[in-house]
Amino acid sequence: KFEGLADTPPMGWNSWNKFACDVTEDLIKETADAMVSSGMKDAGYEYIVIDDCWHGERDSLGFIQADPARFPSGIKALADYVHSKGLKFGIYSDAGWQTCGGRPGSRGREYQDAMTYASWGVDYLKYDWCNTEGLKAEGAYLTMRDALYEAGRPIVLSICEWGDNDPWDWAEPIGHLWRTTGDIYNCFDCEEDHGTWSSWGVLQIIDMHPGIRSAAGPGHWNDPDMMEVGNGMTVNEDRAHFALWAMQAAPLIAGNDIRNMSPETLEILTNKDVIAIDQDTLGVQGYKHIDEEDYEVWVKPLAGGDVAICFLNRTEEAMDITFDWATNKLVDPDFGHTTDFAQSRYDIYNVWTHKKAGNTKKALKASLPGRDVLMLRLSKK
Ligand code: DGJ
Repeated sequence: KFEGLADTPPMGWNSWNKFACDVTEDLIKETADAMVSSGMKDAGYEYIVIDDCWHGERDSLGFIQADPARFPSGIKALADYVHSKGLKFGIYSDAGWQTCGGRPGSRGREYQDAMTYASWGVDYLKYDWCNTEGLKAEGAYLTMRDALYEAGRPIVLSICEWGDNDPWDWAEPIGHLWRTTGDIYNCFDCEEDHGTWSSWGVLQIIDMHPGIRSAAGPGHWNDPDMMEVGNGMTVNEDRAHFALWAMQAAPLIAGNDIRNMSPETLEILTNKDVIAIDQDTLGVQGYKHIDEEDYEVWVKPLAGGDVAICFLNRTEEAMDITFDWATNKLVDPDFGHTTDFAQSRYDIYNVWTHKKAGNTKKALKASLPGRDVLMLRLSKK
């Protein structure tokens, strides 16, 4: 695969969570404009990705074409527009014969499609897993990786088989990120039953696959799905969602209508202190230090010996917490990073209020609103 494309988790926007199949070239252009004018680009968001349903038919030689009604100028012109804004451009296909939305898939056309994407100036490919009867996931994704590599343009490969085939065990040399679960749903604590499949709330997603963090690192990330920030959850829930994604070194792919955002949504999505924790160059996914039914404490070791710590109230009721630093030695179960507050004192910085908050000498006492977080960055004195 192309190296150096995702040394930190990719950041961007994807059309699916908000717009599903209702994608047009105007939407994509307006979103690129908004990415710049809102300040999201300056905050680090880079990729504008069209998900499913941009496709028309293949031409007589089998080359894929955009839906001419929705994308009358074609994909190349759209990619050029996105690039002219200083952003990167992403597209979507499927390893099977059809996409989940019933459009032409790339099965048997991998090299042809990869060359087409490269000629259009695509920078990122999300590659889905519907209608893949008889295919083996690792081999199918390997074929598309090789096809992209042969096409010669550096393209991020986003593997989307929902964690069904344990991609954390094989995807590192193949893709730059891989989905770990089924689809996210715009809900903090719920499961939505669609008959043959389910979609998941924020808490359900963070509870899945606790053992896979050692597979993540620079160039290869666990992807707990695109974000639902700004799609209807409460501000507290959105804040907790964003914080938990950052603690997990998740790709930060916005999934809301960024042309029309509330100030609260924009503030969450562009919080530079939270983004810095997600994008930290050590590239270590966080782990749970305390794991109770209602309350969790997440820890993310950072470059230079800093540590991010995030206290989560899973319930709807406010909760008072006490955390005695001296008796809570933080020990990373996979990578061995250790923080011993009995040995060294740390300064505390609150990444949501952007204020210094004392040090780790005295026990921390705080009140957590329902479905919210207290998220701190600790630096050695
Ligand atoms: C399933 C994926 O998990 C979603 O993120 C989205 O890409 C849809 N398919 C599109 O059909």
